[in-house]
Amino acid sequence: MTGRIPQAFIDDLIARSDVAEVVGARITLKKTGKNYSALCPFHNEKSPSFSVNPDKQFYYCFGCGASGNALTFLMEHDNLDFVEAVESLARMQGVQVQREERQGYQRSEQQQRQQKEQTDQRSRCMETATHYYQQVLHQEAGRQGLDYFLTLRGLGEELLTRYALGVAPEGWDGLKNHLNQAGFSEALQIELGLVVKKEDTGRVYDRFRNRVVFPIRNIKGQTVGFGGRVLDDSKPKYLNSPETPLFQKSQELYGLYEARKQPGRLDRLLVVEGYMDVVALAQQGIHWAVATLGTAASEEHLKRIYRLVNEVVFCFDGDAAGVQAAARAMQTVLPLVNDGRHARFLFLPAGEDPDSLVQKEGAGLFEQRVNQAMPLAEYLISYLQQGLDLNLLDDQARMAHAAKPLVQSLPEGLLKRRILVHLQSLTGLDLNDESANRARHPQTLPSTATFAPDVSAYQPLKQKKETAQFTRTLPVEEKLLRLLVRYPDLISQVPENLVIDPERNESAQILDDLLEYLKKSPHITLQVLMAYWSGTAQGEALLQRARLALELSRETAAQEIQAISQYLINRIAEEQVEARYSDLLGHSETTQLPMAEMQELWKLVQQKHLKS
Ligand code: UTP
Ligand code: MN
Repeated sequence: MTGRIPQAFIDDLIARSDVAEVVGARITLKKTGKNYSALCPFHNEKSPSFSVNPDKQFYYCFGCGASGNALTFLMEHDNLDFVEAVESLARMQGVQVQREERQGYQRSEQQQRQQKEQTDQRSRCMETATHYYQQVLHQEAGRQGLDYFLTLRGLGEELLTRYALGVAPEGWDGLKNHLNQAGFSEALQIELGLVVKKEDTGRVYDRFRNRVVFPIRNIKGQTVGFGGRVLDDSKPKYLNSPETPLFQKSQELYGLYEARKQPGRLDRLLVVEGYMDVVALAQQGIHWAVATLGTAASEEHLKRIYRLVNEVVFCFDGDAAGVQAAARAMQTVLPLVNDGRHARFLFLPAGEDPDSLVQKEGAGLFEQRVNQAMPLAEYLISYLQQGLDLNLLDDQARMAHAAKPLVQSLPEGLLKRRILVHLQSLTGLDLNDESANRARHPQTLPSTATFAPDVSAYQPLKQKKETAQFTRTLPVEEKLLRLLVRYPDLISQVPENLVIDPERNESAQILDDLLEYLKKSPHITLQVLMAYWSGTAQGEALLQRARLALELSRETAAQEIQAISQYLINRIAEEQVEARYSDLLGHSETTQLPMAEMQELWKLVQQKHLKS
């Protein structure tokens, strides 16, 4: 274990670096007034919406919402993890990365070297395996496999090369022997899932035998895993590499590297189910398909996709499993569709998959299907509507109820507003109107949609009803969180005695962490904060809030922060009173309360009476 990098070191590093210089070394920046602008490196665009602000040491893309500082830019642009980015920034400044004293600096540097050497060795081993399978493809041992690709699946030589497809020959140790000769240890081969060690006998043999193989490459083009298909109808049809230090299924998308390498710009990506779908589509000229690896599309998959393009089209077989998979994909994609991003759902005719269909009808017709695929909003509505009769009041309520969590997971923006309006017209209910279940959700309070100074909304509880229809629901913890992300130094406005219950909701959890951090470092900037948390769940959450780019003045924010803090303090007090009240009431029903407690209870009853 290497020691943690001290926060002060990171702070200094960022303070000394210039975001414009870091970005400018990687993409072409054009000076526009005080700022620089450029074509955004994180999504495809024709006119520049990416801007770098050297005063605030911050970049922001108005197109895709990417934002951050020198460190986050390195992470996202150069595909580095947090520590690698810190190292890279330190190298630019000619300083050595400090580590906390627990471990000596010497040792951690040596360990870093060892770690890098280990990763390189793993990659070399996977590369050697890839070449081996490719070689076999053109040898006698691979004749059947080559035939399978060319004749049965209709692929061409160029495509086989582009996707580095190969053949694992029959027999138990073709690859093993090859890797042994190349000097790779057996332990390494096992670790990478290339060979399997049998538990009982200790025998070690090739994982992939008598199969055609599909190398799975990461975004840098390195092979991280393999998929292998049988040449006949035997089972299992596909074998995949296990998860290894190089390969995580929820991260990698088959075909993404190859899609990016094709000339021309990528506007959208098609997400299909299988390796064969990807390569068959590419064979027909649709090179922008990717496949998940036998799993549903994960949040990480979709984030990766949206960093490259603004539109994702999910493709599903027209059977029951496809419909189910679509519902899952929808739930995963909903929180990610900021303004400017799109998702569509393509359902294929029953019994077809992209491979069979594109071969049958050609790329033109298939692409037409993609163009006409159902947009997310339409799919969401039809999903919610299925099986319901919206002439019935009961079904209207049912639809509104089911819609709520889904709509709430959408980011703020035009799409969400549009869907809300439409749902209201279908159900007659305003999903933002919390009046019906406010009693059951004391943690949510109506608050203003923008951050207009609406201090009154936090204090008198009985005003809730009147303001409800004009306001929308956001947990107060979330509001406070956003305000502090916008103006971290306004931690000074948060009273010492404010306690957050992290269990209350997700925002509260992050807020709790943030408060703890800010109390320790009250003069920290947002950039430093985000850098410090980069690559962690809190960092991601923070970045999300930072992207909202709240427009409100410092003074207003200060007022809001005071008001919310006061509200939260009052709420805790009230809840304590409430708890005490029901406690006493409960006791009084079963036993004779002592005099003091009787009086206390009576007081509480009066207090409650006065309030309502
Ligand atoms: P399908 O069974 O739909 O296969 O699996 P396919 O893509 O149409 O393949 P062909 O056309 O018969 O060759 C889709 C994906 O599910 C995973 C693989 O990733 C495959 O590409 N899968 C399927 C497995 O991992 N194991 C299996 O046994 C089957
Ligand atoms: Mn198929």
